[in-house]
Amino acid sequence: MAPTAFRPDRPALVSRLRAAGCVYAEDEAELLLAAADSAETLTALADRRVAGVPLEHLLGWAEFCGLRVAVDPGVFVPRARTALLVEAAAAVAGPAPVVVDLCCGSGGTTLALAARLAPRRLAAVDVDPAAVACARRNLAGRDVPVLTGDLYDPLPPSWRGRLDLVVANAPYVPTEAVALLPAEARLHEAPVALDGGADGLAVLRRVARGAVEWLAPGGHLVVEISDRQAEALCASMRALGLVPAVVRAPEWDATAVTARRPV
Ligand SMILES: C[S@@+](CC[C@H](N)C(=O)[O-])C[C@H]1O[C@@H](n2cnc3c(N)ncnc32)[C@H](O)[C@@H]1O
Repeated sequence: MAPTAFRPDRPALVSRLRAAGCVYAEDEAELLLAAADSAETLTALADRRVAGVPLEHLLGWAEFCGLRVAVDPGVFVPRARTALLVEAAAAVAGPAPVVVDLCCGSGGTTLALAARLAPRRLAAVDVDPAAVACARRNLAGRDVPVLTGDLYDPLPPSWRGRLDLVVANAPYVPTEAVALLPAEARLHEAPVALDGGADGLAVLRRVARGAVEWLAPGGHLVVEISDRQAEALCASMRALGLVPAVVRAPEWDATAVTARRPV
């Protein structure tokens, strides 16, 4: 017997997604339809989406800076606002820089930095083995080591004092605010990707402390932050002898801080 043709009910899917609170229900419906090859698969995907699983975890990929980035379950989904981090890095980087992407997550930021900066050397680090595995997949075939560990710890000691650029989208949500995040983040992304300690700056302060040792004189640290936290972060950086500047992109609701290690 010939298999029954798969004729999805697009309007019904859009209505279902909209009723579940998906703001971009039409776009999401298109993506789910493209990912499903049978009525059963589509129903399973829609059920999980309506139950709150992030679209990107269902599809297995996210779009970031015009690139398709694989995203495994539990791994942080690259956010559109993080394009500012890549732009801010490009604005301060010299030609053929030596770059480290700390807290690389899926490796989406690393891929975008590779495309935007043409670095001489590029490495990525994450403490979460699931993120490292995902980033290795995204960076397969490139000469970009993805290392497991805490911030600068896994880098080769010979790189100390020689980095032109350190980029970090580290966790910066204050611990108490994690419970207030949308369920998609709270329940489906690893807590280590979100929780930045009591004031949200615990990891970023350590990133800045390490930058003083690992950056070459004249090198830059570039980090993402919320607008509300930017001044406190800049004060910590100034106390370390770095020279910070705040960069904002209201169209992405994004803030970044660049900090130069003086020569
Ligand atoms: C907000 S996510 C950003 C991921 C990626 N850069 C992006 O923008 O999509 C933060 C990442 O930092 C990692 N992380 C948290 N603490 C870390 C640490 N001490 N050392 C290295 N990575 C860390 C988490 O595992 C998570 O993947």
